[in-house]
This record gives sequence, structure tokens and C-alpha cells, in this order.
Amino acid sequence: MQEDNPGMTSADISPSPSGENVAVATRSTMLQLTNVDTFYGPSQVLHNVSLEVKSGEIVCLLGANAAGKTTTMKTIFGLVRPRHGTIEFEGGRIERKLPGDIVRSGLVLVPEARRIFPRMTVLENLEMGAFIRNNRAEIKEDLDHVFQIFPRIKERIKQVAGTMSGGEQQMLAMGRALMSSPKMMCMDEPSMGLSPILVETVFNTILRIRNEGVTVFLVEQNASMALSLADRGYVLQTGRIVLSDTAPNLLTNDLVRQAYLGGG
Ligand SMILES: Nc1ncnc2c1ncn2[C@@H]1O[C@H](COP(=O)(O)OP(=O)(O)OP(=O)(O)O)[C@@H](O)[C@H]1O
Ligand SMILES: [Mg+2]
Repeated sequence: MQEDNPGMTSADISPSPSGENVAVATRSTMLQLTNVDTFYGPSQVLHNVSLEVKSGEIVCLLGANAAGKTTTMKTIFGLVRPRHGTIEFEGGRIERKLPGDIVRSGLVLVPEARRIFPRMTVLENLEMGAFIRNNRAEIKEDLDHVFQIFPRIKERIKQVAGTMSGGEQQMLAMGRALMSSPKMMCMDEPSMGLSPILVETVFNTILRIRNEGVTVFLVEQNASMALSLADRGYVLQTGRIVLSDTAPNLLTNDLVRQAYLGGG
């Protein structure tokens, strides 16, 4: 796991998952989107999106179907180019970088619908996650670490990944991302299609990963779970950020309650 997390000290780690923490204000910015516009051909999907994630935070991006959540992730990872605006990771511009170079700089994506390599074995999938690295000893160490976090994955290293259950595939996708030894992990709807108990396992794992020093940016439709975990959140509506606040404030916000928490 990442040990040299610049700008972060042990005192920065929040004691509680959603507790407001004064230390947050003094943390360095890890990821920053400024006035990002993204188009697919002639149709504009992201409108002037600005957001930031600080070192050690869990930040969630909430939004309904087709709001542009996945497009935001794709734009961060160079899978689609913003027409306007800038994206910075640890102070360096990344909006023109190639996806592989972005991963090399310490930012990794756990994609929507998991997207593991279904015909490869579990072990091969994990090894693919380390494609940017060549220190075998360190890779082995991280593999052991992933097995410690996900014992079920270890039991299944020879299994063809596409034959695993949805929950197991989600664990594998997270494990594969961790194999790049990231400073920051972005996750696109990790709870999608999972039973409540598995959602809880996935969310507990996200907390554990953060507590080990990895900053997390999470896209979710499951607003109540995401906000119970996150420090802060943004709400995306038809490609525009309409709200940004601490997680506790968002949980009691009228718009969030009506639109995403099924309440009035
Ligand atoms: N490759 C593409 N070409 C054209 N339009 C696209 C493309 N990908 C997404 N879109 C459109 O962009 C909009 C936002 O899609 P996106 O996948 O970012 O939404 P989302 O918030 O992730 O939704 P969901 O919750 O369903 O995953 C949608 O209207 C979608 O149809
Ligand atoms: Mg999506």
C-alpha cells in the first residue's frame, strides 16, 4: 500500500467515517476538476464541473441515472477528453495524459460494472493490476496484502474470473486496483447489483483502504450508504454540480432526501 502520501500525517486520518474533521481543512488537494465540460460528439454531458478531493478523504459523487457520473470518471482517467477545463492530480495537469500514465502517477479506477477480465484467472487479473510496476518483491507484498483484505479471493486464485459471483468480482476489481499501489482510488458504483450484506462488506473495505492511506472518490446511487461512509459529497444533476457539502449535512439536506434518500 502507499506509504509516502505527501501532505498527510497520521493525525490527518479521521477517527470516524463521517465525522467532520478540522484536519480536513489543512490537507493538501489530491484531485481537482475545474470548469470541466465533456461532450460525446455534439452532445454536452458535463457542464462546468468543478470538484476537489483532499488527501485522506472519502468523497462521494451522487446522482441519478444518466446524470454523468461515469462520464466524470472517464474524463478523469483520460477515457474521454474534456473540451474545456482542467484536471489536476497532486498539482500536475492530467487532462491530456494517457490512462496508463495516469495510473502510473498513483490514481486508479475501479470501473462501473466491475469490468474484470472474465476469461483470465483471478491471479492473472490481479497481476494485470500491477502492469505499471516491475519490482517483483513489492508486487508480491501487495498481493499478500490484497489476500489479507479479501481472503475469499485467495481461495479462488485459479478460478476463471468470469465464473465468480457479482460480489466476488467486485472484490477482485478492488483488489486489482490496489495492485497498482495507488495513492487514490476512484470507484464507479461499487454497490451496484450487490445484496445488502455484500454492499456492507464492500463499504467496510473502502473504509479500511482509506484508513491505510488511500484517498477515495466514490460514485454512487446508493446515497444513504455512500453518505454514511464519506466525509463530503457532491450532487450531480444532468451534468451539473448542484450541491456540495459535508456528508452529515447532505444526509439532512431536503433536496438529497427527496431525490436520493426516498424521503421528504
Ligand atoms: N459513449 C457515449 N456516447 C454518447 N452518449 C453517451 C456515451 N456515454 C454516455 N453517454 C450519455 O451521457 C449521459 C451520461 O451518462 P453516464 O454514463 O455518465 O451517466 P451515469 O450518471 O453514470 O448513469 P448511471 O447511473 O446509469 O450509470 C447519458 O445521457 C448517456 O446516454
Ligand atoms: Mg454510470
